Amino acid sequence: MCGIVGYIGKKDARSIILDGLQKLEYRGYDSAGVGLVGNGEVKIYKDKGRVAHLKELVDTSFETHVGIGHTRWATHGSPTKMNAHPHTSQSGRFTIVHNGVIENFRELKARYLSGYSFKSQTDTEVIANLLERYFNKYGSFDRAFSKTLSRLEGSFALLILDNTNLDTIYFAKNKTPLVVGIAEDGIVFGSDVIPLAGNAKKYVSLDDGVKGKATKDGVEFTDFVGLQEDIEYKELDITADELTKGSYPHFMLKEINEEPSVVRKLVQEYFDEDDIVINEKLLETIRNCDKINLVACGTSMHASYMAKYFFEKFCEIPTEVFCASELVYSTPLIKDNPCFIFLSQSGETADSIACMKKFNDQKFPIIAITNVPSSTMVSIADFHLDLHAGPEVAVASTKAYTAEVIVTCILAKAVRGKKTHLSYNLEKCAVAMEEVISKAPIIEMMAKQIMDASDVFFIGRGIDYWACLECSLKLKEVSYIHSEAFPSGELKHGTIALIEKGTPVITICTQEGTNPIVRNNLVETQARGSKPFVISTESLSVASDAIDIPNVNHYLSPLISVIVGQLLAYYVATLKGNDVDKPKNLAKSVTVE
Ligand code: F6R
Repeated sequence: MCGIVGYIGKKDARSIILDGLQKLEYRGYDSAGVGLVGNGEVKIYKDKGRVAHLKELVDTSFETHVGIGHTRWATHGSPTKMNAHPHTSQSGRFTIVHNGVIENFRELKARYLSGYSFKSQTDTEVIANLLERYFNKYGSFDRAFSKTLSRLEGSFALLILDNTNLDTIYFAKNKTPLVVGIAEDGIVFGSDVIPLAGNAKKYVSLDDGVKGKATKDGVEFTDFVGLQEDIEYKELDITADELTKGSYPHFMLKEINEEPSVVRKLVQEYFDEDDIVINEKLLETIRNCDKINLVACGTSMHASYMAKYFFEKFCEIPTEVFCASELVYSTPLIKDNPCFIFLSQSGETADSIACMKKFNDQKFPIIAITNVPSSTMVSIADFHLDLHAGPEVAVASTKAYTAEVIVTCILAKAVRGKKTHLSYNLEKCAVAMEEVISKAPIIEMMAKQIMDASDVFFIGRGIDYWACLECSLKLKEVSYIHSEAFPSGELKHGTIALIEKGTPVITICTQEGTNPIVRNNLVETQARGSKPFVISTESLSVASDAIDIPNVNHYLSPLISVIVGQLLAYYVATLKGNDVDKPKNLAKSVTVE
């Protein structure tokens, strides 16, 4: 949600910023804008709609080496040109882009800015005018900036231009990510490292409470008061190529196709022959706890159900899965000696971060499992495990789910500490995934049969039910068809009333123990007119099943069955002509609670 890009240096700022904003599109947004320094002034271009539209608006006739840009996902005020960033202070002296939410902006406006007129409904304009107020009072930018920051409550990543000093970009960060890339020819800013790819070789992921200024020659970091900050530079390991679709029509399809290589990458990263390589202190922390609490949202929460299975089955530690947005307000009784494991692709999900901070304050051990090592969650947690899935650009999460299931499985096996054949079994999964992906034409046929449905149900039991949850979420996200997943035994307790003639019921059968009973439950829906589609493993399949998938270890089966669900969702969405990589109303990084 919302994206920031900035550049100051020797290259063309216009293309770096506009291309960077395009790379951040995956985060979700509804308007976009840039402020570019040219001919001694800041020229602002902004509108609602896509970055492609912004590109058409921007004048290309002037040279520019300094600028700031933004994609906005509306929170305060509707998605209009007026509310799009950048915003300027009343006199036009300060130009600002902002990610985050200023919680006390109404109070600041009423208390300190009564003489100021506002053009937008945003909280950001309050920051610009506050800066101007304090500049007018103190006559020093640094003092005015520190004073402004001291007044702000909430989250912010800020880039600021000052009309009277146009060879500097000022920045500040609190609770919303901001990274600073160091290139030979200048400095690049981004709300994550993705716009830095191809532009910088190393970067700094700013801590909360850091501000600074960048010129074409370098960058200075201080705390909000102005004292020097120690900064840790990291190597940027994302290449520009990883951020293109390559020969695929969509990122979602590319990322599904990458899943077998994610499995192999994880084996490479976490295994030395048959031995698992994970920080011993982390393993001891889990061994010493008497309960594991898994916290996540959406797809990551669905992967957490598998993780619960692994921790209970392999480590015999009671484990509970919590939906982060619920846990933060309805915290259950927490006794004795728990540890908290957070699963998140982005590492920026506001609901999960709110929980993480709460339990971190209470001194419980926190483990973050994320795909973004520069993320906020990693900076808060005591331990971090990387998902190594590579950048996930499509809004609908696919390969990160696979990585979350695998990393938690590896972790559980490592906590148990016995010899494991997991690396061998994972290689078998990678091959099985390739086989499923090669059956894409069969899945596309299924998609044709369900694309006109108004409701789709997914049913299964146990592990298959957890896979159903993820398949159903995928379908609704990108196809916009109403879909629900149910434990198949639960249907008779109410939901079966919704089955009508032709309602698709997609059934996952990969577990020998539950296969007969799940099939019975499907027959019950067929008696009410449902259109059945069974996804079954080869050893359990019967002629009428829609697709069979290779057998793998029973507890790894969602890695295979969910790929069918992901491809099904992809084909339904594309057959319907939907924007599958950027589904309506959704954002990749959900950075507001
Ligand atoms: C679904 C999806 C979302 C995310 C959820 C949590 O395709 O992408 O449900 O899984 O918003 O995001 P992360 O994993 O980044 O915490």
